[in-house]
Amino acid sequence: MARFGGKHGSRKYLFVLSCIALLGIALVADFLWASSSSSASSSPNWSSALDFPLEQPIHAFKSPDPKPVRKEEERREIKALMKDVNLTCGFAGGQLQWEEMAAAPVPRLDGAAIQIENLLFVFAGYGTIDYVHSHVDIYNFTDNTWGGRFDMPKEMAHSHLGMVTDGRYIYVVTGQYGPQCRGPTARNFVLDTEKKEWHDLPPLPVPRYAPATQLWRGRLHVMVQQEDRPNEPGTGSIGVLRACVVANDRLLVIGGQEGDFMAKPGSPIFKCARRSEVVYGNVYMLDDKQKWTELPPMPKPDSHIEFAWKMVNNSIIIAGGTTEKHPITKKMVLVGEVFRFNLDTMEWSVVGRMPFRIKTTLVGYWDGWLYFTSGQRDRGPDDPSPKKVVGCVYRTKLHL
Ligand SMILES: *[C@@H]1O[C@H](CO)[C@@H](O)[C@H](O)[C@H]1NC(C)=O
Ligand SMILES: *[C@@H]1O[C@H](CO)[C@@H](O)[C@H](O)[C@H]1NC(C)=O
Ligand SMILES: *[C@@H]1O[C@H](CO)[C@@H](O)[C@H](O)[C@H]1NC(C)=O
Ligand SMILES: *[C@@H]1O[C@H](CO)[C@@H](O)[C@H](O)[C@H]1NC(C)=O
Repeated sequence: MARFGGKHGSRKYLFVLSCIALLGIALVADFLWASSSSSASSSPNWSSALDFPLEQPIHAFKSPDPKPVRKEEERREIKALMKDVNLTCGFAGGQLQWEEMAAAPVPRLDGAAIQIENLLFVFAGYGTIDYVHSHVDIYNFTDNTWGGRFDMPKEMAHSHLGMVTDGRYIYVVTGQYGPQCRGPTARNFVLDTEKKEWHDLPPLPVPRYAPATQLWRGRLHVMVQQEDRPNEPGTGSIGVLRACVVANDRLLVIGGQEGDFMAKPGSPIFKCARRSEVVYGNVYMLDDKQKWTELPPMPKPDSHIEFAWKMVNNSIIIAGGTTEKHPITKKMVLVGEVFRFNLDTMEWSVVGRMPFRIKTTLVGYWDGWLYFTSGQRDRGPDDPSPKKVVGCVYRTKLHL
């Protein structure tokens, strides 16, 4: 594959870059590496994203060390609460039988994926906090194999990309450039999947993270985080890390969050630090008269689902994500359900559970099978906070 053209070599793409809600610079570098929160305090606070091995309150309570009684009680309360949270989040969905397929060549967090016919093009993402991928892997749903790796342009972002396809071209909009919590780029690219050629697109006016991106009515729509009005948190923002879907000539944005990991001020390596985040389950629909309508919310708040959805039989299927943080430990809580939004009835339901909770999944659908790969999974059935970055592939037969 070769790269062609300069920054303005985009004449042949018949769409206009349209940016709605392009305001403010809420530098919400998402990075959902770790579930860290250094204390059980209730106020949002900065903390290192990488100190998670040091704090495991729900496991530590079994330690034979004599501990002050109060600490012991606190831990028991937290344990009980973890249990409650787990139970109340355990939607009674139908059972899904999952089958593990050939794993991706690399583990991936915050990557991007686009399905064209029987191929899933999987882009970029973190391998570790200090290493980001700069290539594309292709999964073939027909023979269930990985192959066809090729490089991305050197200037293309490595995570939190906006991405959409028209069936041949894949449009790549901004995203974070580099590992840890480095800043975003404004550069955009287009991949011709038939010729495996990359071309430049005009850049966004300003660099952006995780823009909700869709092709709708011949235009590329890019929705970005908007700055809040002073003293009115939440007023301006439409959030990031949400699913953006075009269905029945309507544009839908689903879930997402405000606030996220961002670089520790002054850190030379842009070390990620967590900041408070609010996760949403809201669903908004833009119609042909450019009017927004609110639709029924998801069964629970969910973000990190930009590439975690597929349209199947006029339903939007969403797998995994992150939901509201644990109320006491403030740890992140991952989502283990497969949700369905039926566009005939405008109703949400839970199709079933995934083999584990996981966020930033990359989802595909082929020949009756729902697939997901990559992301960061939970610590186990009893601990919904994030741990390992994975490259595994699972599929389940979908019956809607
Ligand atoms: C965050 O927590 C630390 C330790 O508990 C504390 O020293 C610091 O002042 C807090 N910072 C903010 C901004 O609340
Ligand atoms: C949490 O949910 C999982 C999955 O449904 C279940 O296997 C596990 O037993 C639950 N744990 C607790 C402590 O309720
Ligand atoms: C996908 O797999 C099928 C079956 O092996 C094969 O015929 C097809 O050429 C593959 N597609 C690509 C693009 O490799
Ligand atoms: C979608 O609809 C078709 C036609 O009604 C049906 O055969 C198929 O099983 C449906 N797919 C799923 C995943 O339920």
